[in-house]
Amino acid sequence: MKRSLIIVSNRLPFVINLNENGEPVRKNSAGGLVTALAPSVVKFYGFWVGWAGNELTEDMTIPESDDPTAIAHKIKPSQIVPIFFSKETYNLYYNGFCNGSLWPLMHSLPTIASFKSEQWNSYVSVNEKFANSTYETVKKFENLTDKNNLVWIHDYHLMVMPMILRNLLDDANITCKIAFFLHIPFPSWDIFRLNPWANEILLGLLGCDLIAFHTNTYAVNFIDCCYHILGARVDRREMLIEYGNKSLVVRALPIGIPYEWFEKNARIAPKPFNFREQVIFGVDRLDYTKGIIQRVLGYERFLDKYPECREKVVFFQVAVPSRTDVEDYKNLKDELEREIGRVSGRFATAEWTPIKYIYNNISQCDLAGYYRDARIALITPVRDGMNLVAKEYVACQIADPGVLIISPFTGAGETMNEALLVNPLEHDMIADAIKTAYDMKYYERKLRMNALQTRERLFNLDTWLESFFEAIDLVDTVKKMQS
Ligand code: UDP
Ligand code: G6P
Repeated sequence: MKRSLIIVSNRLPFVINLNENGEPVRKNSAGGLVTALAPSVVKFYGFWVGWAGNELTEDMTIPESDDPTAIAHKIKPSQIVPIFFSKETYNLYYNGFCNGSLWPLMHSLPTIASFKSEQWNSYVSVNEKFANSTYETVKKFENLTDKNNLVWIHDYHLMVMPMILRNLLDDANITCKIAFFLHIPFPSWDIFRLNPWANEILLGLLGCDLIAFHTNTYAVNFIDCCYHILGARVDRREMLIEYGNKSLVVRALPIGIPYEWFEKNARIAPKPFNFREQVIFGVDRLDYTKGIIQRVLGYERFLDKYPECREKVVFFQVAVPSRTDVEDYKNLKDELEREIGRVSGRFATAEWTPIKYIYNNISQCDLAGYYRDARIALITPVRDGMNLVAKEYVACQIADPGVLIISPFTGAGETMNEALLVNPLEHDMIADAIKTAYDMKYYERKLRMNALQTRERLFNLDTWLESFFEAIDLVDTVKKMQS
């Protein structure tokens, strides 16, 4: 079906950096959101509204991609609608409300969250800015009364935008559905209500026709919030919310990965490790939700408890720089590097370094080789909306299969039952899971990995996109059945 589509997210699929001649060049953005969305913008030749980082200024033009391996390579400059922030807005909105208030609260870590009305006001005005730019872009659609026109908004940065956009579209009599996907967890209402602007955020989201989450738990939490906080009428069986003259369909649509892309790249990626020890692998944005410190401490416990494994394994951790202007992220980097240094110093010998650490971004093509050659993937978030890394690791086990160890506090952990599930908050449990994975015989590894692969191959990124478009196309029918 032909469809006019606009994707809206805070971050575009690339960041603009200036090269040595001061010219803008694209650098791929890290994160699950970009991995998931770029293919549909390419497929529908849609627009993407978002921010390209602070180095892009209004007098510059967006360049073409010079990296043919990047997932967003085929997105043309004419498809991009850039949003610009002042330095002050970047601090108040992005570092402040998005990553200092919402991110920790939505991950059920309220003691890390802080709230300031100045930051909230900036969040609202950025959401207005996104709504205005999106509205101007909708006006470029071929047919402004086509019921398949769609704006698809993503993630916690833009939760009050839907209602602002809805009002603009209604005032202009433009037909256009608005959908929202949250890439992070939605917490229980008892946590969410700690947000001083919980009401305003829920009301903002009610501007959508469809809102979708990674898991049923998050979807139910959202419905509970609308019921308890707004006093909305909710139908838990049909997953429908009604409030005033607005109604909203809620769905759990767990995201998948471009499985075949990773599988194919695992066949051609260069060999990344040139040492004989077995690799225990972790790769994450450097974020406190990812449980990287807990992972290092669990690994330390493993070396303590199972001395016979020393010099036979290497823990290889890639930490991608993320939100480097936010205090909690700066402190995390210091603490992580201190802990890695301490544990390495404790166990290293002249021939052996127990931990290898990269503080950088790795391309997904290369990452496929790291996944393939890692004997164990150690994925220990204290909370994570989904975690695509776990799924990508599974897709890349093309030969002698490795073992996935995953925290149950991730969306992925809810379905990956054949992995080793481990509570990341207890060091002995991590240590024992590593030992079990280390000792696991070929046939058990193969059996578990086959089951994981079958599920991820089936519920891949295409399936996710299809189920999303199916859900949005059914929205009118679902709403009509209820009224
Ligand atoms: N990623 C990447 N390069 C890196 C590290 C990660 O391209 O060096 C990608 C990875 O392949 C995955 C995404 O970033 O697609 C991370 O998604 P995930 O859901 O695991 O975590 P998020 O960063 O979204 O919290
Ligand atoms: C997570 C969020 C995305 C975000 C990404 C990277 O995946 O769900 O919305 O883009 O992290 O974080 P950043 O702050 O660099 O955009």
